[in-house]
Amino acid sequence: MLKEVTVTRYITPLREGGSLPGLVEADDLGTYVMKFTGAGQGRKTLVAEVVCGELARRLGLRVPGLVTIHLDPVLGLGEPDQEVQELLKASGGRNLGMDFLSRAIGFDPLAFEVGSQEAGRIVWFDALVGNVDRSWRNPNLLMWHGDLWLIDHGATMIWHHNWPGAEASAARPYDASDHALAPFAPDVAGAAAELAPLVTEELLTEVTAAIPDEWLTGEAGFDTPDALRRAYARPLLARAAVIHERIRGIETLQGGK
Ligand SMILES: Nc1ncnc2c1ncn2[C@@H]1O[C@H](COP(=O)(O)OP(=O)(O)O)[C@@H](O)[C@H]1O
Ligand SMILES: [Mg+2]
Repeated sequence: MLKEVTVTRYITPLREGGSLPGLVEADDLGTYVMKFTGAGQGRKTLVAEVVCGELARRLGLRVPGLVTIHLDPVLGLGEPDQEVQELLKASGGRNLGMDFLSRAIGFDPLAFEVGSQEAGRIVWFDALVGNVDRSWRNPNLLMWHGDLWLIDHGATMIWHHNWPGAEASAARPYDASDHALAPFAPDVAGAAAELAPLVTEELLTEVTAAIPDEWLTGEAGFDTPDALRRAYARPLLARAAVIHERIRGIETLQGGK
C-alpha cells in the first residue's frame, strides 16, 4: 500500500512535458510532484507510474518515493490558470504523488558520465517495461546529490492499452537507439544476469498490490482488480527472462546485439 496524503496547497504547474504535473504541498507537510487522474492520458498513466516505480525501487534503481494524494476539487476554484483549474476540477479523489527532489537538475548526456554497469541496469529496466520516454531529447532522468534518479514512467507497458494483444505485444524487441544512456556502453548482459532473477511472480504480486483498486475497476474483460493486477504481472515476468536478447540499436558489452 502506498502512503496516503491530502493536498493542502497547489504551488505551481511543471510545464516541461505534456501532462502538466503540479507541485503541491500535502497535510504531512511534504512537497510532492502530483500527477492527475483527470489529465488527458488518464489513469493508466498513473498505474504505469506505480508499477514501474515500485518495480524499479525493488531492483535497486533510484526512483522518488510514491504516495497517493487525495484532492478536493474545490481547490481548483481558486486557480487563476484556466488549464490548471480544469485539471484540478476533473481530478477529485485519489491521484499520484512522488517525492519532489528539490534542486535536482535534468540529466544531460553531454555533461555527465555514467558507468556501463549503471547504464546497463537502466537500459535493461526500460526494455523490460517498454519505456519509450528515455530518449536523449527527453531523458526523464534527474541528477540529484550527484546521483542519477529515474522519473516519468507513464509511457510504458504499451500492451496495457490492448489486453487481448498483450502477450504478442510484450514479446516485441526494445529499440534503444534513441536511449539517453546508449552512448555509455550499457552492460545489459550484466544487468540481466543480476536483475532478471529478482523479477519473480512473488515480487510482481507485491509491486502490483501497490496499485489502488479504484484505478483498476471497470476494465473490460477483468472482473476484479486482482485479475487486472495479474495481467500487469504476466508480461513483465515473461519479458524478464528474455528481453536482454531483444534490445536493438545499441553497442553493448555483449558485442553489439
Ligand atoms: N520527483 C521530481 N522531483 C523533481 N522534479 C521533478 C520530479 N518529477 C518531475 N519533475 C520535473 O517535472 C518535469 C515533468 O515531470 P514528468 O514526470 O517528466 O512529466 P511529463 O513529462 O509528463 O510532464 C520533469 O521533466 C522534471 O523537470
Ligand atoms: Mg517527462
